Amino acid sequence: MSLIEELARIEKDARGALLGAADEAALEDWRVAFLGRRRGRLTDALAALPTLDIAERRTVGAESNRIKNELEAALEQRRAEIRERTHKSGDQPIDVTLPGRPLPAGRLHPITQTLNEILEAFRQMGFQVAEGPEIEWDYYNFEMLRIPKYHPARDMWDTLWMDYERDGERPMLLRTHTSPNQIRIMEQTEPPIRVVVPGRCYRYEATDATHEWMMTQVEGLAVDEGISLAEFKGTLYEFARRLFGKDRKVRFRCDYFPFVEPGADVSVDCFLCDGKGCRVCGDGWIEIMGAGMVHREILENMGYDADRYTGFAFGMGVERVALNRHNVEDIRLFYQNDLRFLRQF
Ligand code: DAH
Repeated sequence: MSLIEELARIEKDARGALLGAADEAALEDWRVAFLGRRRGRLTDALAALPTLDIAERRTVGAESNRIKNELEAALEQRRAEIRERTHKSGDQPIDVTLPGRPLPAGRLHPITQTLNEILEAFRQMGFQVAEGPEIEWDYYNFEMLRIPKYHPARDMWDTLWMDYERDGERPMLLRTHTSPNQIRIMEQTEPPIRVVVPGRCYRYEATDATHEWMMTQVEGLAVDEGISLAEFKGTLYEFARRLFGKDRKVRFRCDYFPFVEPGADVSVDCFLCDGKGCRVCGDGWIEIMGAGMVHREILENMGYDADRYTGFAFGMGVERVALNRHNVEDIRLFYQNDLRFLRQF
């Protein structure tokens, strides 16, 4: 075999072997085997060069240079391919088998979750959902609910007034309850009405385990022909059963709210002490809403025929319901934004 033929075979072998080299180490072995200066096949073959005559030496020399240059170029190209395929950047391989970094999905705030459960329970009983403004007129928040100016009943709600005066009076406020929506809805609708209104309310109050200056309420209003105290109690019992299960005790007690007659407060037995009385509940019961039969005078003010239509209303504290649902001992925890707490829901 002539030297030229041998060079051609080496080139062929080298190109074939290069395709089989799959990583950095194999490339280096390949380089040593074919192009290595000490015992590479090309170098070995050229050991016979001095035995050739001048003209042959020139052809063989030129050919071997071509092969060497081309094989070096092929090596670089192959190296680039391998890097690309294994996502190597420099010497820092990226381990594609590592699990990905999970994106934190977040979750609904516990009060939002409880609110959704409450609304769903009433939706299933045929109630619609409506909303109203958080900045409210004195007119809706108090006056139309039979709480006239200078009436002592206003003391039941420590009010945050807006910095806005008209005729020496302050007619705008942060709503202290969702009850103004009873009026807003009756102004615009004819019976039959069955509606729940969720929303934030604000009070100028000191906080403790069961009070916050901002809280969420769900107002309820049903006005129809023949609504009796029995339907009122039945609806709220059914609600309590759906949210707290059938074993929770529910207590109705007479209470005074100017817009209902009779009025009631509705409590469930305390989740913490099972009704024995503790630091959270006091007497074994946690009040979750005020309620009652819509006052006749309000129905008349709304232009309804109060001999034909009757109704009931309630205003529920969503944080109070959430306390009970989730065995939380302090209402203030809900709004401290501590993820260690919020992640438990
Ligand atoms: N709005 C009252 C409050 O926040 C609660 C209430 C009592 C709402 C009786 C009602 C009701 O709809 O009938 O203290």
